[in-house]
Amino acid sequence: KTTCLILAGGKGERFWPKSRTNLPKQFLNISGNKSMIQQTVHRLQKFIPLEQVFIITNESYAELIKAQIPDLSKENIIIEPVGRNTAPCVGLASIIIEERYPDSSMIVLPSDHIIKNEDEFVSILKAAVVVSQQDECLVTLGIAPTYPETGYGYIESSTTKFLVNDHYAHKVNQFVEKPDEGLAKAYVEAGNYYWNSGIFVWRTSVIRKYIRGLMPQMHDLLETMKISFRNESRDKVIKTEFPKMPDQSIDYGIMEKVNNIYVIPCVLGWDDAGSWTALERINDLDENGNAINGNILSIDTKRCIIESNGKLIATLGVEDLIIVETDDVTLICKKEKAQEVKSLIKELKVQK
Ligand code: GDD
Ligand code: MG
Repeated sequence: KTTCLILAGGKGERFWPKSRTNLPKQFLNISGNKSMIQQTVHRLQKFIPLEQVFIITNESYAELIKAQIPDLSKENIIIEPVGRNTAPCVGLASIIIEERYPDSSMIVLPSDHIIKNEDEFVSILKAAVVVSQQDECLVTLGIAPTYPETGYGYIESSTTKFLVNDHYAHKVNQFVEKPDEGLAKAYVEAGNYYWNSGIFVWRTSVIRKYIRGLMPQMHDLLETMKISFRNESRDKVIKTEFPKMPDQSIDYGIMEKVNNIYVIPCVLGWDDAGSWTALERINDLDENGNAINGNILSIDTKRCIIESNGKLIATLGVEDLIIVETDDVTLICKKEKAQEVKSLIKELKVQK
């Protein structure tokens, strides 16, 4: 069987002020007419029934998930009392999924990515599932890098490869999470590196084996939880035990340290919609290179990202700005500072 875990606990802070603590990016329509998490679920329906799809999120977003994906059973929503990054999410979900679907191939998907080529996506995931069943390997989907992004993981592929359903799976030489700029540049130039898409496939037994070896503290906690699940309610066990988990991403905790990884390079029209500048890549631009959405009047305005919430936004003689208006906030930001929008939220919290 194939199962899927959707990671939906992110705060989407770089999409502020549209993305808010109580309504983060994955629950918003950033592109298209469905929210990002609805699109994620919809894409999967082409080959995985909803009962095999699990979503892990923070308790403050559980109601949003129920509202946006009403057909998903409550049992398939895993609620974390606190955020501990992605490794504990994967660990916890693997023991819960294993109970119902022993040793399934588990697809791990972020809830907030854009994927334009949906048929290709399905075809590649099917190939990745086949690869995941071969030996004790971890599989990741790789994207050809276009610039030295330092916020991604980089995967060095080797020449050892095999063909599965029309797709090549390459043995991975090394996985480097968030390299510095110099390294990222060298990787982009080298030609045999891919960005880690953050989309993984492995059998639950295999990921649990690596967790046992590489994150033993988490492994022990998971074993304790498994035993407690027999006598107590799942939610109650998670509430008391999950906060004891280490704060660690799957990329640093597992991917960087495992030798048996395969990457399947793919062209998906993928974008992790990390910050406002993603809109330039996703949307059609006007003749001056502006990505505009809503009620906007612009003269002599170049390469701006402008989003209005009804009120007219008028611009004259400006370049490379992000302008976003919501009911209660207007953001004006240089495009090159898009990654730092987070710092405004930090400052707001300090002032409160
Ligand atoms: N439920 C839950 N709980 N979800 C979480 C948590 C958590 O504590 N932390 C993160 N997530 C979700 C996010 O919402 C996102 O969908 C996904 O897990 C990945 O987390 P990010 O925080 O966005 O990771 P990143 O962007 O730093 O890096 C990852 O993604 C890159 C591609 O977008 C890594 O996998 C990189 O290697 C990769 O290149
Ligand atoms: Mg991300």
